[in-house]
Amino acid sequence: INTHVFDNSANASKAVAQQIAALIKEKQSQNKTCVLGLATGSSPKSLYAELVRLHREEQLSFKNVITFNLDEYYPMKAESIHSYVRFMNEQLFDHIDILKVNIHIPDGTLAKNEIAGFCTQYEDQIEKAGGIDLQILGIGGNGHIGFNESGSLQNSKTRLVALDHSTRIAASKEFEGLKHTPRTAITLGVHKIMEAKRVILLAWGESKSAIIAKAVEEGLTNLVPASFLQEHQHVDFVLDKEAASKLT
Ligand code: F6R
Repeated sequence: INTHVFDNSANASKAVAQQIAALIKEKQSQNKTCVLGLATGSSPKSLYAELVRLHREEQLSFKNVITFNLDEYYPMKAESIHSYVRFMNEQLFDHIDILKVNIHIPDGTLAKNEIAGFCTQYEDQIEKAGGIDLQILGIGGNGHIGFNESGSLQNSKTRLVALDHSTRIAASKEFEGLKHTPRTAITLGVHKIMEAKRVILLAWGESKSAIIAKAVEEGLTNLVPASFLQEHQHVDFVLDKEAASKLT
């Protein structure tokens, strides 16, 4: 795992946005689509703000971009203030020229018996798009990527998962308390994340430092799903100095 340490998350996010812009433009010049895997949560917010700025001020176009988000709470209405659909629209999609048909986010409104079929179809859509060119990840305090919690298998598929207690505690700030916080989510599996041609994981702040050190420096373990990335061919961990502070 290559680690890149920046003074602060703003500068780190700008550097990552430049890489994404370069990839989008390279694909444009070849008349190809650019398939991005996207995360929600606090970590990518400054990245999305910078991509919006590049669109507004430097004419970066997203017309050739296809996106697949990692996860959505279940059950979750798209129009809820807590939905990842809403988050992505507000942080990114409403402010750029991406085609609506090119946006994919797991559907939190399905009936229980529709979920398995939806998950298979989600992976098929990724395949049909040519696979993920670049996957953006955050990391949970327990080492989850997407909502692949501790114990997830390296070959896990896209599926409905139970959220860890620690994940629900972290989310409860947004949900007016634990009892209103969802217990389950639909997440892209580890297998498809590992198939992405390139992965960039973002982590900011002291609270991520211990899990970053574990994921990078300790052995591969399904207790820390981010450690699976040690086996990926092209992965960068982009960190601020606080998140990097426990690396040796
Ligand atoms: C969100 C996701 C999660 C978050 C992780 C970190 O789509 O897949 O794995 O990336 O929980 O969240 P933040 O960035 O809020 O610390």
